[in-house]
Amino acid sequence: MMAHEEQSSDKAIQHQSLMDLLDKKKPLKICAPMVRYSKLAFRTLVRRYGCDLTFTPMIMSNSFVRSMKARDNEFTTNKGDRPLIVQFAANNGKDLADAAELIAPYADGVDLNCGCPQRWAMCDGYGAHLIKNPELIRDMVRQTKARVGRADFTTSIKIRIHPDLRDTVDLCQKAETAGVSWIAVHGRTPRERAEPANHDAIKLIKESVGVPVIANGDIRSLEDMQRVCDHTNVDGVMAARGILENPAMFAGYNLTPTHCVQQWLDISLSLGTPFQCFHHHLIYMMEKMVMRADKRVFNVLTSTAAVVDYLEENYGIHPSTEVSIEDTRGSSAPPLDRIM
Ligand SMILES: Cc1cc2nc3c(=O)[nH]c(=O)nc-3n(C[C@H](O)[C@H](O)[C@H](O)COP(=O)(O)O)c2cc1C
Repeated sequence: MMAHEEQSSDKAIQHQSLMDLLDKKKPLKICAPMVRYSKLAFRTLVRRYGCDLTFTPMIMSNSFVRSMKARDNEFTTNKGDRPLIVQFAANNGKDLADAAELIAPYADGVDLNCGCPQRWAMCDGYGAHLIKNPELIRDMVRQTKARVGRADFTTSIKIRIHPDLRDTVDLCQKAETAGVSWIAVHGRTPRERAEPANHDAIKLIKESVGVPVIANGDIRSLEDMQRVCDHTNVDGVMAARGILENPAMFAGYNLTPTHCVQQWLDISLSLGTPFQCFHHHLIYMMEKMVMRADKRVFNVLTSTAAVVDYLEENYGIHPSTEVSIEDTRGSSAPPLDRIM
């Protein structure tokens, strides 16, 4: 466990309980759960740029509980990776409670995904399907809280809204009576994709419950954050696409600064990030930096070494430490700090 402490503890945070943080720091700035993206290396980067709390990508609770291989593949952390919420997909209380019990020593809370709109999830009773069944959510929250029983460990939900907002208010109030610690609201219905997020709905939910509410949807800058907070009075904000495109957004940058790209090189190379993940993040975060003609070259590079050379030659950006990029080439490089 935690094999490379010297690499992992670049910022050994003496963190306080998450509920204290939510109480004292308003608005809390949160990096959203993102499948394939909100992994350890990216979480480390955004913490350096003003992010107060990070989420893992959604993890299937049943395979996490049953398979060591799934745990190895899906969850990597280290000492500096706090405060951290691990998000699970679950369709019953036992799976969520089992997964929460296993992860509790390594995280500050678990979150139940009640927003994934993909067809497979809806068909199998996961993700956004759950918002149709507030009693089940209430039961899952109750079971999880009873199982972990640690006052400083949160059980939260991340939801999409219903077409009729009375249903959303009812769901949130039921979750509150079950003891949910806080609620993140993505202001779109399960059917909506590119429509603007409904911040009025988030305001209504904030007015209807006593637990902290986090606003999510279309927050891409500190100005957006302020506008949404002024409108809704939420306790925190959560960004997904905005922070992928600009991991420094919570530090007040409107475009990814060069030093952020440099930090990404250092962090991802030292953690042995697989090539695809390393490269995809760069494509997102450099979207507005790289000229269209250059994208045709940059986006099709196929090795870490080629990307590092490209950044050095074209942007003068290079890793600040001597890292053997041989070790990180291709997608088979193992993360260094697997814990389970
Ligand atoms: C690449 C990607 C992966 C995502 N994965 C998850 C996930 O694992 N769990 C989840 O609850 N939402 C996931 N989402 C949804 C986001 O967390 C967020 O709710 C949504 O993108 C709206 O926020 P935004 O407008 O800031 O992008 C994902 C979104 C993106 C773009």
